[in-house]
Amino acid sequence: MGAFWLVFIVNIVMVSLVQGQGSGLQNGFYSSSCPKAGAVVRSTVESHFNKDPTIAAALLRLHFHDCFVQGCDGSVLISGSSAERSALPNLGLRGFEVIDDAKALLESLCPGVVSCADILAVAARDAVDLSDGPSWAVPTGRRDGRVSSSSQTSSLPSPLESIAVQRQKFAAKGLNDHDLVTLVGAHSIGQTDCLFFRYRLYNFTTTGSADPTINQSFLTQLQSLCPRNGDGSKKVGLDIGSETKFDVSFFKNVRDGKGVLESDQRLWGDDGTRRVVENYAGNVRGLLGLRFDYEFRKAMIKMSSIEVKTGSDGEIRKTCSKINK
Ligand code: HEM
Ligand SMILES: *[C@@H]1O[C@H](CO)[C@@H](O)[C@H](O)[C@H]1NC(C)=O
Ligand SMILES: *[C@@H]1O[C@H](CO)[C@@H](O)[C@H](O)[C@H]1NC(C)=O
Repeated sequence: MGAFWLVFIVNIVMVSLVQGQGSGLQNGFYSSSCPKAGAVVRSTVESHFNKDPTIAAALLRLHFHDCFVQGCDGSVLISGSSAERSALPNLGLRGFEVIDDAKALLESLCPGVVSCADILAVAARDAVDLSDGPSWAVPTGRRDGRVSSSSQTSSLPSPLESIAVQRQKFAAKGLNDHDLVTLVGAHSIGQTDCLFFRYRLYNFTTTGSADPTINQSFLTQLQSLCPRNGDGSKKVGLDIGSETKFDVSFFKNVRDGKGVLESDQRLWGDDGTRRVVENYAGNVRGLLGLRFDYEFRKAMIKMSSIEVKTGSDGEIRKTCSKINK
């Protein structure tokens, strides 16, 4: 009897660890309360993606910015001049309308059941899948937060920060160097404004030249995309040459001095993070691509579980942009 219970308990603990790091989330949380939840989110993301494939990157980033502030609780979705969404690091976020659309459908199908935080986590997974990346089961059961404050966004990393600071910001969320590099692999899709990296191209060093870590031929290319006095809001791919396909090309670019953001290129300048970039960039394309896919799934499940609210914490918002009255 004793042995049975021991094995039983060990099993429960192991399953919960695998499914969400003991976070209280579980696979199939809505299987009886709203069995179509996953399918509704999927078809909503798909219909937006078919009109505009760049929406995939936007959704993935939105989920990241949700999780790093107050945990993955949909706090990034709240609108208002003092909400997270209005803070500087969040001004370029997009994709809110996709979450709103899915929420509206789900409220008519199963009112008050599916959280905005879960919709966002599932939408981010679908976005990666639609971009030819990996897919995975997203543990669900997140509840929506009742706080969203623009003054709390300093936990988000900036592209100008050193690896030491990035490492510290990820560690504060329970994520190590391996997770950091793997998750930044999300920059395999999506774009950035010239504004966020143009300073690297002109007058970067004390002697007035460009950032020496930029590959010479790539520098010429970036300078023509972002002229010194050109439009700072012009968009450039984060993974030039493969910006809509989720793959290991981003890591090859970083290896070759073709990282666009300073923070991305710095992953090559630090021993701890460089080792991980090297692993993914490697040389046998197909095989290593698979390994990145596998690691990305694991890292995403970890990120998606940061400081989640479950059980009777928080609420199930009626409208994703507003805290319930
Ligand atoms: C050190 C960590 C990171 C830094 C400094 C960083 C910084 C940035 C910056 C500056 C942009 C461009 C924003 C713009 O021009 O409007 C960007 C875009 C993006 N980031 Fe990150 N990021 C980091 C980690 C991550 C992580 C962990 C994810 C997801 C797992 C992610 C996903 C994305 C995506 C998908 C885009 C493209 C968005 C779009 O095209 O709309 N990033 N990031
Ligand atoms: C380059 O930067 C230096 C130091 O920040 C500054 O004094 C100088 O005016 C800049 N030159 C140009 C051409 O922007
Ligand atoms: C710079 O880019 C070229 C061409 O893409 C590549 O062959 C070379 O290895 C890169 N240089 C460095 C230092 O990575």
